[in-house]
Amino acid sequence: MLWTDTKLGSIAVEGKTLGTDEWTNTPSSILSAISRRLHLQKDHPLSITRQLIESCFPGFKCHNSLSPVVSVQQNFDSLGFPPDHPGRRPSDTYYINRNTVLRTHTSAHQADTFRANQSDGYLITADVYRRDAVDRSHYPVFHQMEGARTWDRTRVNSVRLAQVINDDIARMPTHDISVLDPNPTIDPEHNPRQMQHSVEETELMTMHLKRSLENLIVKIFDKARKAAMASGDTDPYFQEPLKVRWVQAYFPFTSPSWELEVFWGGDWLEMLGCGIVKQELLNNAGVPERIGWAFGLGLERIAMLLFSIPDIRLFWSQDPRFLSQFRAAHSKGHPEDTTITRFSPFSKHPACYKDVAFWIPKTSSSAGGNVGANTQDFHENDVMELVRDIAGAKVEEVRLVDTFVHPTSGRKSLCYRINYRSLERTLTNQESNELHEKIRAALVERLGVQIR
Ligand code: DAH
Repeated sequence: MLWTDTKLGSIAVEGKTLGTDEWTNTPSSILSAISRRLHLQKDHPLSITRQLIESCFPGFKCHNSLSPVVSVQQNFDSLGFPPDHPGRRPSDTYYINRNTVLRTHTSAHQADTFRANQSDGYLITADVYRRDAVDRSHYPVFHQMEGARTWDRTRVNSVRLAQVINDDIARMPTHDISVLDPNPTIDPEHNPRQMQHSVEETELMTMHLKRSLENLIVKIFDKARKAAMASGDTDPYFQEPLKVRWVQAYFPFTSPSWELEVFWGGDWLEMLGCGIVKQELLNNAGVPERIGWAFGLGLERIAMLLFSIPDIRLFWSQDPRFLSQFRAAHSKGHPEDTTITRFSPFSKHPACYKDVAFWIPKTSSSAGGNVGANTQDFHENDVMELVRDIAGAKVEEVRLVDTFVHPTSGRKSLCYRINYRSLERTLTNQESNELHEKIRAALVERLGVQIR
């Protein structure tokens, strides 16, 4: 599956020229997103959301301009991802070449930031890249925020360290929301403490972590509620008192680990992942004396909720009808003073869907090991990528609507429904037809399918 436009032997990105190889699978449409820096664009909802979150962590050093081009070592190895972790697959990750990827998460910068050792707490906001589905809440480029807080064990003895963390907790604001937290902090079987950390250290760091993140959620939802009230929104979700819960989780780079969920729209909505940083990561980063916690969250999900933005593609809009709706606090004011205004849709343009059905090529091999991105078997994300590459933001959703296996030949056929809709104008029928034709041709040419 060759992406012809990147098969020139090298890719120029962020002022650097990088060689390509059989792992290269990053199309130019993705590379062109790198320069947008939405999280730094004045008055952009992602930038406003970033500033609001930053205001919840006074004293933390904020890193907002780290390059998205990272090594496989930074993105996966430094965090303890096993060699066969699915996240490493070229069906999920954009490779520039065998050793270089577009970061799939802001955690890629944890080790380097710990190594630099410039502050007890830090926040990293950045664009991240993942090959994924096409729908209203998924886009191959999105934004994450990473946060971490560590303490230096050698500056004080263990009794005093406990006191230091305790004092830090006592200085934090309290809240009065309902928190469901049914599991013990340390669950030897499902969520173990690290042997390098005492029970007391683990308990105290966890208390500090949980309170910090609960306060963050309280602040965000308080802003969202005020915005909803101001716009006359009678959505019952905003009337009910906020309810959150902690669930046990697993990440290769933390233990114990949790996710924080918020009860929203009748369902539990995952807001972030977090945990006690693996000591090995800190040791390898040259700061074995430090212990602490980390978290990561997706900015779009929070911004969509805050501003009631219904489609993730809107963040990329350059249309003044979108951009002019948002204002950050005056530069001299505090980000906390920002009044969030809810998005009011400029007319919704009609959608037009078209189906495409095809036989997928027979699996060429079952050979495992490190095959390059271009020699892998058919993967649904390749369809997503191809559609995005050709039709960009003119597609709202790509959905598998039918699967069929031929009873005698065993060949498999898939039918995808592609929903064409622009956020900015009405697409003509001819336009969607032309896009659909191009997509059909490219499916044959690039993925080797046979149209039915
Ligand atoms: N990097 C994780 C992700 O993208 C999120 C995350 C989880 C970050 C736990 C963390 C953490 O720092 O401690 O899903």
